[in-house]
Amino acid sequence: MTIKVAIVGVGNCSSALVQGTNYYRNASEDEDVPGLLHVNMGGYHPRDLEFVAAFDVDATKVGRDLSEAIFAYPNNTRKFSEVPRLGVEVQKGPVMDGLGKYLKGYVKESEAEPVDVAEELKASGAEVVVNYLPVGSEQAVRWYAEQAIKARCAFVNCMPVFIASDPAWQKRFAEKGLPVSGDDVMSQIGATVLHKALAKLMVDRGVKITESYQLNIGGDTDFLNMLEEARLISKRISKTSAVQAMVPYDVPLRIGPSDYVPFLDNKKICYVYLKGEYFGGTPVQIDVKLDVWDSPNSGGVVIDAVRASKIALDRGVSGPLISPSAFCFKHPPEQMPYEVAKRRFEEFVEGRRER
Ligand SMILES: NC(=O)c1ccc[n+]([C@@H]2O[C@H](COP(=O)([O-])OP(=O)(O)OC[C@H]3O[C@@H](n4cnc5c(N)ncnc54)[C@H](O)[C@@H]3O)[C@@H](O)[C@H]2O)c1
Repeated sequence: MTIKVAIVGVGNCSSALVQGTNYYRNASEDEDVPGLLHVNMGGYHPRDLEFVAAFDVDATKVGRDLSEAIFAYPNNTRKFSEVPRLGVEVQKGPVMDGLGKYLKGYVKESEAEPVDVAEELKASGAEVVVNYLPVGSEQAVRWYAEQAIKARCAFVNCMPVFIASDPAWQKRFAEKGLPVSGDDVMSQIGATVLHKALAKLMVDRGVKITESYQLNIGGDTDFLNMLEEARLISKRISKTSAVQAMVPYDVPLRIGPSDYVPFLDNKKICYVYLKGEYFGGTPVQIDVKLDVWDSPNSGGVVIDAVRASKIALDRGVSGPLISPSAFCFKHPPEQMPYEVAKRRFEEFVEGRRER
């Protein structure tokens, strides 16, 4: 059984996803693979993801086999797998607002004519479209979601333009009998899950949190693009709402991308700070530094989200996938503490929960 996957945006996250499905190709069913809920999820192995289409706009990627395009400049994540030729040529999509102020000067747009994406999706037999467009691509993301609907594909939205968490889009996918999940991947051991866990720990231990920030820096095109504050509105909402949801009162929070440091490449450094008061009004402060490669951090989570979409398609479940989204994304239709989301996602996989 395969899952036919189309990718929108062949950047660092696509690289980690494609490399990961190859890296874990021979994982045995009882193996504990870091970052995956299970090797066998609902009958699907990571190697069952078959990439059938890919879209980008960058001249270094368009026209190349996906196995080469994932390593093309300016992608700069870790290479941890030799991906064999996939026989999938990256096709040119429309640019729209995909390239912001900073990316325009950095990415050379391909001169190829944009293809008819919905028709290409249909011709490829794609079942699940994974969206990895740059932050702030409001128009382009909605357009690609529309193409997924036209081609009758499930949609997995890995970035913070709100689709799965937007009631109007939920309705549109539900009406067409298609599942949708998102929004904005929550990395395996990233800033959001760490910050959520620390906030929840303080609340559970009766500490009153008085203020908190989370500052993030990185050296890839994602961070370059995020220098443009106007493109960050939904990113800040997504990241902030994930942490605020763990605290039953309002806390002054400042959370988001903070700077672009080119020599970090795809590494991301995150500083989390929480200040509070415990017994007798006594002050407490937590400062944590997290140092990770950003894209491999999302690879396993997206493999799980894709498999959840396929399970939903198999079962005829449509509309927003509540539990898989709560586990895999920062801004899901319904926020849950991590352990609750994980339990419900397991129940969904086992067929004990519809969505
Ligand atoms: N752990 C993580 O890395 C993580 C976590 C959460 C969310 N995200 C989000 O996932 C998205 C992808 O991240 P990334 O690191 O791969 O970014 P990236 O900059 O490496 O990749 C984006 C790709 O989209 C392409 N693109 C731009 N406009 C396009 C268009 N109109 N049509 C098709 N392709 C287009 C670019 O050329 C580039 O190849 C970003 O929005 C990021 O914020 C990533």
